[in-house]
Amino acid sequence: MNKRFFPFVILFLTIYLTLTYLICFPPNDQLVYKEQTNGNENDVKSSFSNPSTCSDPNGVVSNEERYMTYLPHSGFHNQRNSLENAVFLSWVLNRTLIMPPILFSKKKYIPHRPFDVLYNMLNGNLTNDIALCEIKGVEDQACKFTQLDWEELLNFEFIKKHIRYVHRNDTNFDVKELYSYLNITNPETQVYTLAEETRYDFQFYDDENTTQVSNDNFKFLVNLCSLQKRKDKLIHFGSVYHLLRFNLKNEDNIEFINSVRENMIINHPVLLNVGEKISEQLGGKGAYIGVHLRLGDNGLDRKFGEKAEENVDQIIKELLNELPTTPLDEDDVYLAKDLFPVEAITIDAKKCLRSIAAEQRHVPIIYLASDKPRKDQRLRKFFREFPCVFMLSSNFTKYLDALSKLKNPRDGALLFQYFVPFIDGIVAARGGKFIGTPESTFSDYVYRLHHRWVGS
Ligand SMILES: *[C@@H]1O[C@H](CO)[C@@H](O)[C@H](O)[C@H]1NC(C)=O
Ligand SMILES: *[C@@H]1O[C@H](CO)[C@@H](O)[C@H](O)[C@H]1NC(C)=O
Ligand SMILES: *[C@@H]1O[C@H](CO)[C@@H](O)[C@H](O)[C@H]1NC(C)=O
Ligand SMILES: *[C@@H]1O[C@H](CO)[C@@H](O)[C@H](O)[C@H]1NC(C)=O
Ligand SMILES: *[C@@H]1O[C@H](CO)[C@@H](O)[C@H](O)[C@H]1NC(C)=O
Ligand SMILES: *[C@@H]1O[C@H](CO)[C@@H](O)[C@H](O)[C@H]1NC(C)=O
Repeated sequence: MNKRFFPFVILFLTIYLTLTYLICFPPNDQLVYKEQTNGNENDVKSSFSNPSTCSDPNGVVSNEERYMTYLPHSGFHNQRNSLENAVFLSWVLNRTLIMPPILFSKKKYIPHRPFDVLYNMLNGNLTNDIALCEIKGVEDQACKFTQLDWEELLNFEFIKKHIRYVHRNDTNFDVKELYSYLNITNPETQVYTLAEETRYDFQFYDDENTTQVSNDNFKFLVNLCSLQKRKDKLIHFGSVYHLLRFNLKNEDNIEFINSVRENMIINHPVLLNVGEKISEQLGGKGAYIGVHLRLGDNGLDRKFGEKAEENVDQIIKELLNELPTTPLDEDDVYLAKDLFPVEAITIDAKKCLRSIAAEQRHVPIIYLASDKPRKDQRLRKFFREFPCVFMLSSNFTKYLDALSKLKNPRDGALLFQYFVPFIDGIVAARGGKFIGTPESTFSDYVYRLHHRWVGS
């Protein structure tokens, strides 16, 4: 490691650890309004399959089906986080989740806004867009969105087992259609809407003794017990996005939300197959190191752009720590040696190792997922340090052909452009180790896939 960068590495580590600490243990310094709850809710015995319930002396368990829904927004990973939170709410509240689809957009996505603005945007922009798609066709640039059911992409076993759900089908997010589907004739009395007036109004809590939001973004605490007791046919949430949306003390609740997150695993057969094929060229699952470097830029993605150099340095440092201390023989390369039977066709990883000097052959095979191409200046250092680095866009594009014909069953839109980043994530996740970019939701998700598929 170059001495010049040492202070930056220390500085970066300090910032990173502080942020991590703050994210894990947010300061509890803001006393906020706490929604009044009537009566005393005692903790009732609960189990994983039965969410914690609150005693309600007047409450009669009703068999009438009740519903909940929420509004999606932003990019894929924010939408995924929202769905995770909604699945938890649906379980806790014992309400059927009316599940909005994934909104994939060609360019600008629907941003995170307060309830009314967000609903208007969803409804207005999608209505416009659908009209244009019908006139010009789904592949025209004027047609900006496509909507995909979550179930097409993710393994839904866990969700199916624990909650009831239906897919929201009114493609333009028309609340009237939603009410009509639910036979709601009088929204005033049949719908309870938690309309956020700012970006993050509500944090949900499950312990009567909680008096403060656990994160400054939130203004109000909302008791899950009080929501459980509501008899309205529909509870309509706005955005439910945020990693700290819940302020939970109940062990079962915590365990459940963690399980929801762990089970949001891609299982689209074509995506898995392509990811596997590329990963075979790298020596197979576990034989290489997966890296995700989100580099950002000086424009829209400044948050990552500003930290790109630090992130590159930090990841190089981590990778150097991975190296075995003494070089190995050619037949004893870093790759798991028994992965290459003599007669096997030469895979790309081995070709690369053969092409470099023998004393260098202990270098790891690296798969680098990134939002930028190989020629990005900020990656030069990386390639200087490691000779066998593979990237999707420069080394494996031919494998992507398999995605080129995939269509969204809802509207026939080609899914290629939306699915390519998942391939990057899948291949990186299949490495024996994965190193991501701090604070990146993409990296965060790849860690999860890695944990599920490779372990550790
Ligand atoms: C959950 O809701 C279902 C369907 O509405 C109902 O049959 C069931 O009794 C409810 N369970 C509890 C514990 O309230
Ligand atoms: C949605 O509509 C608003 C107002 O018409 C417009 O300013 C905005 O750019 C649109 N957003 C998208 C994602 O189309
Ligand atoms: C959406 O369509 C599917 C299939 O046609 C149907 O089963 C489901 O009930 C519909 N959901 C809603 C919310 O209308
Ligand atoms: C709406 O009413 C129809 C006719 O009574 C019924 O079949 C349907 O199940 C109801 N839908 C809901 C969501 O309650
Ligand atoms: C809340 O605090 C009171 C008083 O400290 C205590 O008796 C009660 O058990 C606490 N409730 C829970 C759910 O921890
Ligand atoms: C990947 O592709 C780039 C650009 O074509 C090439 O320079 C590089 O050597 C390839 N990497 C490996 C490890 O083969």
